[in-house]
Amino acid sequence: MEDRDLKVTNLRWYPTYHIAAPSGWVNDPNGFCFFGGQYHFFYQCYPYGVEWGPMHWGHVVSKDLINWEHLPVALAPDRDYDNDGVFSGSGIEKDGKFYLMYTGNISLPDGGHAQKQCLAVSDDGINFEKVENNPILIAPENVDMSGVDFRDPKVWKHNKNFYVALGSKTTDGQHGEVLLFESKDLENWNFKNISARAEGNQGTMWECPNFAKVGSKDVLIVSPMEIHPEGNKFLNNVDVVYTIGKLDYKTGIFEHGDIEILDWGFDFYAPQVANLPDGRNIFIGWLDMWGVPQPEQADGWSGMMTVPRELKIKGGKLFTPPIEELKKLRKGKKTYKDLKLDKETELKGIGGAVGELCLKINLSKSKKFSIGVRGTAKIFVDAESKILKFIRDAAENEGLAGEREMNLSKGKELNLRIYLDKSSIEIFANDGEKVLSARIYPPETSTEIIFIPEEKVFEIEEVTFYTLAQSIPNPKM
Ligand code: FRU
Repeated sequence: MEDRDLKVTNLRWYPTYHIAAPSGWVNDPNGFCFFGGQYHFFYQCYPYGVEWGPMHWGHVVSKDLINWEHLPVALAPDRDYDNDGVFSGSGIEKDGKFYLMYTGNISLPDGGHAQKQCLAVSDDGINFEKVENNPILIAPENVDMSGVDFRDPKVWKHNKNFYVALGSKTTDGQHGEVLLFESKDLENWNFKNISARAEGNQGTMWECPNFAKVGSKDVLIVSPMEIHPEGNKFLNNVDVVYTIGKLDYKTGIFEHGDIEILDWGFDFYAPQVANLPDGRNIFIGWLDMWGVPQPEQADGWSGMMTVPRELKIKGGKLFTPPIEELKKLRKGKKTYKDLKLDKETELKGIGGAVGELCLKINLSKSKKFSIGVRGTAKIFVDAESKILKFIRDAAENEGLAGEREMNLSKGKELNLRIYLDKSSIEIFANDGEKVLSARIYPPETSTEIIFIPEEKVFEIEEVTFYTLAQSIPNPKM
């Protein structure tokens, strides 16, 4: 780990098994892929302050996707084509070398910016050189797109060619879109088509596109700006959506179904997918939200990542369960079976600032109940209306108070897997059918989990709490 001037000063909210920077600001996941026998994960960061600033790429590596080690910052904004930020992008191996493709951002005197795509290459997976021909891909002419907002290249290989998806919007600035380009060598790119475009209320700019081949389908994930709220949907400042379909590599067009929400929580953005050597598609998102308070800034750091999740399609529906490897973090275990609780109850051995809470509940027996989390949040389930509501309400969360909710499937059985870290919660319902993520900021001493019957009895078929091993090093203080 590099020695940084900016230091974390308090570990009260610093994660123990989620990726975060050694200090300073982080946002989007970048360059997530496998190279040289290790998983590499990069992230947008500003190592010199706790606010967003000229973007660099932070870097961590792992052999098992759970234990991560910090490496030096991989890319810094130091060229005339990326001076105001090495913006988001992705990574890929070609001929035994590791390539990172990113957006070079430049601020213009008129207050605007210019965005062009660039490449950096490495032999060892640690030291990266920007290529001589940068920028290697600029906005195509005569295409209905914004020449200005053109960023976040996600590169992959299909048959013999390389493809890159880029986020942009229409010339009139009203509809987000994904542009597809094709290349034989990663340096020379041909525009293929506008693969997908926002219709109606689907966002005015699409950031951070990802295409992933899941079984016989393709899944597109994008992070749209300016979707207006619709009922319990699109309540955050920016959102993340997916749609399932088929990408036609000849025409470059993506035929797809409806646009759906990928995560129903307060804090989730800009996820990036990695296609692993074993065929799985997994992704990590930024477990934060633009434009909301980040209390950990007082402690010298800002922002963290979600646990890795897998993309799976079952019966035509997308599921995003946590990756299998996370089970290896489990240490201590406490289980209770067949509980009938008629008042607010704490269970010995079930609680902690860090852990995994698993529940099996028969919704025909327990129709209304809540689970209080560390005095700062509550999970409320109403079996009648098939709603799981997450309420972030306590005084410690000033400025962050509110509710998010997700619909549950019709079945009687509800299983919940809840990952708690010092300042985060990720709720996976029914094996990742629905997911809700949020940051929480309880005092370190509040570790209690309380089971609350909202009607006569709260029946729990099974509840287990696992303590979890630390897999991210503590920052140097
Ligand atoms: C998304 C984003 C990207 C951009 C990056 C800059 O959160 O706005 O579009 O590349 O952050 O840090």
